Amino acid sequence: MRRVYLDHTATTPLDPRVMDAMRPCFSGTFGNASSIHAYGREAREMLERARGIMAGAVGAEPAEIIFTSGGTEADNLAIAGVMSAASGRDGIVTSRAEHHAVLEPCRLMAEKGKRVAFLPVRESGAVDMDALAHAVGGGTALVSIMHANNETGTVSDIPAIAALAHGAGALMHTDAVQSAGKIRVDMTELGADLMSLSAHKMYGPKGIGALVVKRGTPLEAILHGGGQERGRRPGTENVPLAIGFAEAFRLSLLEMEEESVRLRALRDAMEGRLRHLFPGIIVNGDPAPRLPHILNVSFGAAEYPLEGDMLVMSMDLEGIAVTSGSACTSGSLEPSHVIRAMGRDENTAKATLRFSFGRGNTMEDVAYAVEKLGLVVGKMLRNRVP
Ligand SMILES: Cc1ncc(COP(=O)(O)O)c(C=O)c1O
Repeated sequence: MRRVYLDHTATTPLDPRVMDAMRPCFSGTFGNASSIHAYGREAREMLERARGIMAGAVGAEPAEIIFTSGGTEADNLAIAGVMSAASGRDGIVTSRAEHHAVLEPCRLMAEKGKRVAFLPVRESGAVDMDALAHAVGGGTALVSIMHANNETGTVSDIPAIAALAHGAGALMHTDAVQSAGKIRVDMTELGADLMSLSAHKMYGPKGIGALVVKRGTPLEAILHGGGQERGRRPGTENVPLAIGFAEAFRLSLLEMEEESVRLRALRDAMEGRLRHLFPGIIVNGDPAPRLPHILNVSFGAAEYPLEGDMLVMSMDLEGIAVTSGSACTSGSLEPSHVIRAMGRDENTAKATLRFSFGRGNTMEDVAYAVEKLGLVVGKMLRNRVP
């Protein structure tokens, strides 16, 4: 059976060039980067080379890169680390459309007595700037708003949000896990003090991410042990994965311009065909600025009373991988919190599908997926018990 992977927002396949870059560090250069002998020094040199590439990719200094186990840890470190170090301020301002890796640590902070504002988003998925201006004040320690949403691709105006945060003396954190490697994520241009990244969304290995922390930003470690990563993230450094991350980021940037044009063409073709085939479907995130490779559609509940999870399973039987919510919540029947936050009712939110394109996809994949979706939806509507 033909198989088509349209879930690059959940994860991406490892690029063989990244594997080639990592391979020598698994066996040859196996030393502990903190050891002072030759084995250790070789590993340290590779680690610092990776750190330098990462820093260059985001307009930061090498010392501002903290390697973590992934985007989740980077988000947790940003939120818990800033709040533990903050003195005299106990407020966090975030949005209801954030990833769980931000929402959950924020909820934990609220349980611990911090004041946390979960702001509403507009229909586009972008945070409501009036609500933001109202919520950020003298007691705010941290504003955490994602750069691009993982379900809809909606890109937020981080420079404007950061200006607002800084105007009130607060720090700005942005989760750039989905945007990095797809659009520019320069720390200075964005105005961010902290930024989360993850390798496996850009054809790098799973299990490594980074928190970029602007020099001078007060941050306390959330893990305790050795003094690695300048004491901000203890644990033996994962040199092979750091090399893989840096190589994946470097390649993504090298190919970004061309690839984003190609991905946008695939996405727009799919969007056009779905609008034609299913009049009345909602394209979530449109017309806000969106990442080029994500298409999120809700089947208007009245015309198409469908369950996204059933659609995902039926498409899977046809060999096509799509998702109905964020990867982290798929498997549960809860409607997407992001689509709900954008003002859609529960049934519409449940009848939602996300397609996310990547390097391996072609126009033939789009045609195949549309054809199969047409058949699947038609069958589901015919079999529906009135
Ligand atoms: C926006 C966003 N933030 C954070 C994460 C978590 O990253 P990781 O899987 O590297 O822990 C994800 C993963 O889906 C994501 O999409």
